[in-house]
Amino acid sequence: MIDARDITKTYPGTPRAVPVLQGLSLAVSGGETVALTGESGSGKSTLLHILGGLEAADTGIVTIAGQDVGALDEAGRAALRRDSIGLVFQQFNLIPSLDVGANLAFQARLNGRYDAGWAGTLAERLGLSDLLSRYPEELSGGQQQRVAIGRALASRPPVLMADEPTGNLDEDSAARVLDLMLSLVRETGTTLLIVTHSAAVAAQMDRRVHLSRGRLSAPSDAVGAAS
Ligand SMILES: Nc1ncnc2c1ncn2[C@@H]1O[C@H](COP(=O)(O)OP(=O)(O)O)[C@@H](O)[C@H]1O
Ligand SMILES: [Mg+2]
Repeated sequence: MIDARDITKTYPGTPRAVPVLQGLSLAVSGGETVALTGESGSGKSTLLHILGGLEAADTGIVTIAGQDVGALDEAGRAALRRDSIGLVFQQFNLIPSLDVGANLAFQARLNGRYDAGWAGTLAERLGLSDLLSRYPEELSGGQQQRVAIGRALASRPPVLMADEPTGNLDEDSAARVLDLMLSLVRETGTTLLIVTHSAAVAAQMDRRVHLSRGRLSAPSDAVGAAS
């Protein structure tokens, strides 16, 4: 579902350029859940942006849901993001002028896959049914992130990418939000790539990969060896 081969990415910089990804490869099968760990600045967000078609790699091949991302033009990449990828960020990124119901429906309406029944199910599962007419600023962080997850899943994308999605939440809300996200991902067979600093979160995924010096490796701990 995600296939990245020999990806390199260097940002120009002064006094010298910053090589971030240095021949990195990653393959994630359909329905698999994978945790991506790595020190701050190791390039996790850069990798997610490249996989999500938000940013171009310098070299290498990225295939998402059967599409060669490098072969797409800007419009094609926008269509890929809209149709095949759900994105959840640390800062929620809800649309402040839309209420919860409209935020939830936003991406699905854009790609013509809005399904009122599924939207209702998501709202219920995420504990948002009573909040549909509220605005983002009237919600707690945990509630906002639940809306962001619902919005990303509303159009049933094959792939969900989450960049430290619980990084702005207190421990209890983080655990609740993550549990909800994981159960929805597993029930829908969505492929998940999640960036996290939490070993406890990483342990709940099918597989863990660690980014260091521009490449990925499997973590060497016992938990990481499972599956
Ligand atoms: N747009 C950019 N321009 C220049 N340098 C960048 C840019 N984005 C990220 N970087 C640099 O690339 C490296 C990796 O960043 P990032 O992918 O955000 O790491 P992480 O998400 O693992 O913390 C860092 O050194 C960062 O400063
Ligand atoms: Mg990051």
